[in-house]
Amino acid sequence: MNIRKTTLRAIIGAGLMALSVNAFASEGAELKHKHFSFEGLFGTYDKAAGQRGFQVFKEVCSGCHSMTLVPIRALGEEGGPFYDEKHPNPIDNPVIKAIAKDFTITDGPNSDGDMFERPGKPSDYFPAPFANEQAARASNGGALPPDFSLLVRAREHGPQYIYSLLTSFEDEAPEGVELRDGMNYNPVFAGGQIGMPPPLFEGSVEYSDGTPATVEQMASDVVTFMAWAADPKMEVRKRTGWMVMIYLFIFALLMYGSYKAVWRDVEH
Ligand code: HEC
Repeated sequence: MNIRKTTLRAIIGAGLMALSVNAFASEGAELKHKHFSFEGLFGTYDKAAGQRGFQVFKEVCSGCHSMTLVPIRALGEEGGPFYDEKHPNPIDNPVIKAIAKDFTITDGPNSDGDMFERPGKPSDYFPAPFANEQAARASNGGALPPDFSLLVRAREHGPQYIYSLLTSFEDEAPEGVELRDGMNYNPVFAGGQIGMPPPLFEGSVEYSDGTPATVEQMASDVVTFMAWAADPKMEVRKRTGWMVMIYLFIFALLMYGSYKAVWRDVEH
């Protein structure tokens, strides 16, 4: 009897735990199922999307978010959104030079001990919008805009999560949800309240390739750009992986052939 009771308790306990885990899983809103070109075994970055995404990052997100681990020249390296076969070394790529020049870099100290500003060079890293974390928080109502360098990899289902986050802001919180001061309602963000104001509006940027700048389009482009930044060697890595597989396959055929040849006249 006692044993049965214990077993029953264990079963009920396990059932309750499973329920609570489920409740936790369904807390955040469901992510949108968006497929990106860079997913899957053969996936590559859509270059045009990466270029547009860079524009969105530069004109909108970089006002608050840094991307300090990525050098500007990476944009023009193999696999990068501005890679040009004619200039395999990005330092010679006029597009990369022009992009770099457009950034203002704080350098120094000079011989007088002062910091000074100068136009960027391809070898510089993307400059951060704030001098330090405290300044970033002070400008954002206490919330810290995370660095973009690895953000796609730091979040579960990174591309889908960030795409959904950017496209799920709501003007008003549903009834019963009390928004704290300076917070914005976004069901995709854990807890539903985020310190980031909706960054994208129809036409936030004007694309030079004529693509209409809808919120979904800009979100998808900037996610492609951020995914590249977080894994710039992906294309090269996948290609190497396939070469190795093909090599191993041919090697296996050769080995099988030689095994057959060697043992042909031997009784075994
Ligand atoms: C006005 C400043 C501002 C702008 C512009 C801005 N953000 Fe943010 N962002 C923030 C702040 C602040 C946070 C931290 C929010 C928090 O922790 O509540 C944040 C957080 C995020 C997060 C992290 C969410 C998480 O799970 O932690 C992502 C992703 C993000 N922003 C993407 C973007 C993208 C993409 C753009 C450009 C299209 C952008 N942001 C533009 C201020 C900004």
